[in-house]
Amino acid sequence: MDKFLIKGGKPLHGTVAISGAKNSALPAMAASLLTDERVTLHNIPRVRDIITMAKLLAFMGSSVMVDSFPAADYSLEAKSISHAEAPYDLVKTMRASILTLGPTLARIGVARVSLPGGCAIGARPVDLHLGALEQMGAEIVTAHGYIEARAPRGRLQGGHVKFEKITVTGTENILMAAALADGETVLENAAREPEITDLIVLLRKMGAKVSGDGTATLRIEGARKLTGADHTVIPDRIEAGTFLVAGAMTGGDLSLINCDPEHLGATIALLQKAGAMVETTGPHRVRVRAPRKLFAADVTTEEYPGFATDMQAQYMALATQAEGTSVINETIFENRFLHASELIRMGAQISIDGHRATVKGPAALSGTTVQASDLRASAGLVLAGLVANGETIVERVYHIDRGYERIVEKLKAVGAVIVRVHKQG
Ligand code: EPZ
Repeated sequence: MDKFLIKGGKPLHGTVAISGAKNSALPAMAASLLTDERVTLHNIPRVRDIITMAKLLAFMGSSVMVDSFPAADYSLEAKSISHAEAPYDLVKTMRASILTLGPTLARIGVARVSLPGGCAIGARPVDLHLGALEQMGAEIVTAHGYIEARAPRGRLQGGHVKFEKITVTGTENILMAAALADGETVLENAAREPEITDLIVLLRKMGAKVSGDGTATLRIEGARKLTGADHTVIPDRIEAGTFLVAGAMTGGDLSLINCDPEHLGATIALLQKAGAMVETTGPHRVRVRAPRKLFAADVTTEEYPGFATDMQAQYMALATQAEGTSVINETIFENRFLHASELIRMGAQISIDGHRATVKGPAALSGTTVQASDLRASAGLVLAGLVANGETIVERVYHIDRGYERIVEKLKAVGAVIVRVHKQG
């Protein structure tokens, strides 16, 4: 298992190119199951979860064509779906495998997907995905750890679906299923994340009729057949947000290119509240300059356009360096503060009370060995390492490899002292 060694104390200066969004690329890849024609996707990040999704699609019978490995461009062609199954071995390494359920069921009338279990950040059930598919006529049983779904007479029916709670991949699954269902589907209380809008843009290129993007009510008119398409996925707003935090908390000056400032509203507003100078310097560029002193600011995680739960660990790392008390409320996942205990081991003053973390700063962090527990927690620990005194060793960085492309190289290029140590076993 690899680890990172970080020597803290260097302000980051320079330019960082942001990669494509993992959480847009994954549903876009799954959407290729909706058609027997070729779907070509560009700006795919070179991260572990994408490789897992490519393996899953190949297992299901898709031909996966890449011109280099790891690739940024994928051509996916599911002439037929020979195995309508997402097996346990792949689902256990990537919960987003559930995104194959909706398109497979809609295309061939059956699908079998291993039930994703909980993960470090919460129980993460998929009941809302299943309930919505049932509203569309699917018959679903769960047995032996698998979701087994079939559509009577091979076709899903359009339906009226109202999510009790907003779910991102749930919205994506139903969008894809509805795109090939008979009749119209109305989806209420849908997620409004930019990744949802990106999926809608792709589905339209494939011939789907969808309206309401960016709102909580989506209308999808099912088509008999969808076609191939060519699509470039949007930039990764969480990677961009992570680098904005890195610039602000290391006393740096970073320019991000290939990003979409419109998707960064809540993060930029919070950093400005904390005293950082953040400005949009072009349609795809943002610059962050650290203030002489950061100030505490409270935040609550929310669905988009609110402050993303996927930025909470990184912000907590910054809050340890801000003067005053910052209260962080996590409302999306029930157990997403695992990084706090590792930050405390580095000298942070954080207390946790249920969904609320109280961070007192500024604290002089000192480097030590810390364990990454999930993707964004790992990013938070790397950020803490960048400002800690001495050497920080971040273990279990396979979590970070799931979603950050070449993070060591990108940080090094702007002045961080960080190396990856390859470890056997
Ligand atoms: C997506 O996960 C993202 N993953 C997550 O990113 C992100 O943290 C999350 O949305 C929230 O923004 C991908 O896009 C691949 P949810 P998802 O369904 O769709 C509850 C990262 O770091 N819920 O929106 O699985 C659920 O338990 C990852 O890149 C149900 O109760 O999240 C949670 O409390 C981690 N029943 C809340 O809803 C359901 O059927 C929101 O989860 C579904 C969800």
